[in-house]
Amino acid sequence: MTVTPSMPFTPIAQRLPAERLAALLRRMPKAELHIHIEGSLEPELILRLAERNHLRLAWPSVDALRAAYDFTDLQSFLDLYYAGAAVLLTEQDFFDLSWAYLARAAAEQVLHAEIFFDPQTHTARGVPIEVVMTGLEHACRRAHAEFGLSAKLILCFLRHLSEDEALATLAQALPHSRHFIGVGLDSSERGHPPEKFARVFARCRELGLHVVAHAGEEGPPAYIRAALDVLKVERIDHGVRCLEDPALVERLARTRVPLTVCPLSNVKLRVFDTLAAHNLPALLDAGLVATVNSDDPAYFGGYLNRNFVDTFAALPQLGVSHAYRLARNSFEASFAPAADKLRWIAQLDAVFAAEGLAQSG
Ligand code: ADE
Ligand code: ZN
Repeated sequence: MTVTPSMPFTPIAQRLPAERLAALLRRMPKAELHIHIEGSLEPELILRLAERNHLRLAWPSVDALRAAYDFTDLQSFLDLYYAGAAVLLTEQDFFDLSWAYLARAAAEQVLHAEIFFDPQTHTARGVPIEVVMTGLEHACRRAHAEFGLSAKLILCFLRHLSEDEALATLAQALPHSRHFIGVGLDSSERGHPPEKFARVFARCRELGLHVVAHAGEEGPPAYIRAALDVLKVERIDHGVRCLEDPALVERLARTRVPLTVCPLSNVKLRVFDTLAAHNLPALLDAGLVATVNSDDPAYFGGYLNRNFVDTFAALPQLGVSHAYRLARNSFEASFAPAADKLRWIAQLDAVFAAEGLAQSG
C-alpha cells in the first residue's frame, strides 16, 4: 500500500560530495525486504558451528572457504550456499545465525526486516521445522525488544523441488503460522517457472499469507508475468530482467508492484558485469517501486549499507533524491502495518530535513 505522510516532502535534487552522500546512505532509516537468513551465514560462524556440532567440513579454514566464493551463476552459488547451511542443526544455531544478522541490521539503521528462510534445506537433513522456526523467531523477538527493530519471517519454497514437497512443507509449517507473515519462492530459477507452484500459492493466499517470488533474476520476463498472473504475488524479488519487456515495465509501474533489487548479488552471480552496468537507475527512471537489498550478504561482499554505498559510488547519476526514494520505497513496499510505515517515513523525512536536504511542498 502507498501511505501519505501528513506533510508534503520533497528531497532536494542536489549533488553531494561522495563522502557526504555515503554517510547519508548509511544514516538514513530503511527496511530490508530481500535477505535470505542462510545467506547471512559468515564463514567464521560456519566453522564455529561445524566444530560445535562435530561436523567435518570440506574447507579447513575461513580463508579456504572464502576463496570458494567465486561464482559463475546462480547455481554455482546455490551449491555452496546449501553446503554451508548444513552446519545449522539446533535451535541455538538458528538463533545465533539470525541474531548476528539482526544486530548488524540494527547498526545499519534498518528499522524493519522481512527475512526469508528455507525450511526444506533443513528438514531434508532431519532438522525439525519447529527447531528452525523457534530459533529464528526468538532472535526476531529479542531484536524488537533490544533494538526496536521490527523483524518478520517469510517462508520460501525451494523451486528445484516439487510442488507436492512444497505442499508438505506448508502442512508442517502451519501449526507454527504465527511465526511467519508470508511465503516466497527461491532457489534455481531457470527451468522452474512460477506455474509449477500454482496450487501451493493459491492455498497460501486463501490462508491470508503474503506472497512473493523470485522472478527475472536469471529467468526471462515471462517468469515475472507468471509470478503476477498465476501466483498473484505482491512483490517481485529481483525482477531486473523486466526491462526487456516494455509492456511489463509499464504494468509494474502502473500497479506499483515493488521489486526487491540486490545489486551486489547481481554482480557476484553475473547478472550484470559490474555495478556501473546495473539497471537500477533505469528501473527508477521507469517509475518502478524499486528497493535495494542484500540477498545473501555473507556470500556477496556486503550487507545493506554496502549495497547502497557501492551502488551509488558506481552510478554517479544516483543522488540524494534517489536515496530518499529507495528508502521510502522500502517502507511502502513492506508488509508492515500502515501506522508503522507512517512512523518510519516520518523518521526518514526527519533525517533528510536535519541534513538540510529537504523542502516542504
Ligand atoms: N536463495 C538464496 N539466494 C538466492 C537467489 N539470489 N536467487 C534464488 N534463490 C536464492
Ligand atoms: Zn534472493
